[in-house]
Amino acid sequence: MTTTHDRLRHFNYFDPADTADKWALFDHARSHAPVVRTDHEASGGPFYLLTRYDDVRRVMEDWETFSSTQSPLVATGVPSLSPIDDDPPFQGEVRKLLNPLFSRSALAPYEQAMHDTARSLIEEWLDDGQVEILNRYAGPYIGRMLIKVIFNDLTREELDVAQEIALEVAEAANPEVFARLFGICSEYLERAKRRGINGDGVLARLVNARIDGAPIPTEKQIGCLGILVLGGLDTTRAAIGNITYRLTQQPELEQRLRDPRWVRRDMDEFLRLDSPVGAMARVATRDVELNGVLIRKGERVQARFDAANRDPEKFTDPGSLHFDEARSGHAAFGMGVHRCLGSNMARMQIEIAFQELLARITRLRLAPGAEVAWAPGQSNCLHAVDIEFDRV
Ligand code: HEM
Repeated sequence: MTTTHDRLRHFNYFDPADTADKWALFDHARSHAPVVRTDHEASGGPFYLLTRYDDVRRVMEDWETFSSTQSPLVATGVPSLSPIDDDPPFQGEVRKLLNPLFSRSALAPYEQAMHDTARSLIEEWLDDGQVEILNRYAGPYIGRMLIKVIFNDLTREELDVAQEIALEVAEAANPEVFARLFGICSEYLERAKRRGINGDGVLARLVNARIDGAPIPTEKQIGCLGILVLGGLDTTRAAIGNITYRLTQQPELEQRLRDPRWVRRDMDEFLRLDSPVGAMARVATRDVELNGVLIRKGERVQARFDAANRDPEKFTDPGSLHFDEARSGHAAFGMGVHRCLGSNMARMQIEIAFQELLARITRLRLAPGAEVAWAPGQSNCLHAVDIEFDRV
């Protein structure tokens, strides 16, 4: 008979059965085996699976012991996704370069385009009374805006090509699509270098920067463009899908989201409960003990942000939404030096997505026969969010 512990030892986030049972598996792990070794190589293992909030926090805050180099959960075929696969000090230098471009004030000029993009997508299906939110709203909206922000120094035609690829990434991330994404990043970088580029966008900064007196290696420049797209796309798309799903399950939430204060007051609680990024990995740089388990130098941990966010030691009744008490410190945007670069952009995109949506539709409900299931993989994203609605 297969025990829960056996299932944890073979845990594979690409497996539909493990995905379907993940919350129960993580609950079991947290109580009985908070640092459990998984042996599944198809999902990038072996790993030590970490499910307790305090363990995840400790790992994220100690980058010298738990390095991000050679750690990716899912191989993308690109040698280095900078800064996510780097450690300080290089990682910190890349962040210093990019952080100013992703502040709320730096993103303000894109606000109108976000509204316009969201509105034009809604108009495509508003008369139908039903829609699948991930592919007909969240994916194209997020993809178009990300490309606009990341490649703001390019021509309209160049943007169109990149936006098409971003759409493919949103709909079906597979090795061919990844190759096309990194191909276009590399091509645009080369063009920028040939033409010379003086603006203050992402491309210009990557091309013109000097770190310790040297240009950023081309491979890292490509990886950086790629992770900006990959890091911003699936995550924010999933968040919009997850929040929409919660609205269908608890209709009283619609009123909350109609109050602009929801952004500061409630959005984080949605991100805590259904954390879009399930986990990230780290590699031990020395032998280290974690919660009584010896992890040897070179072994990897899979730190589950989603399980940490449902740790009852940290959050009471963690499997439900609670808005009326302080729930600070969630791990949905990560912790420590790698904490999300794009959190301001994500919040702004989510805010505008629901502002435009709820200005036009009300009484969101799951479409008859809609199947609700988590998609396998690193993210907490539903397969589909098929809804029906009334017009406002
Ligand atoms: C709701 C949406 C989002 C969620 C839940 C999310 C989550 C995360 C998490 C958990 C990390 C930490 C990774 C680690 O520790 O290894 C991270 C890092 C990162 N995110 Fe996000 N993210 C979101 C949106 C975005 C957006 C919109 C962008 C791009 C504009 C972005 C770009 C990045 C980058 C570049 C990093 C790496 C930072 C570093 O290594 O220093 N993310 N994100």
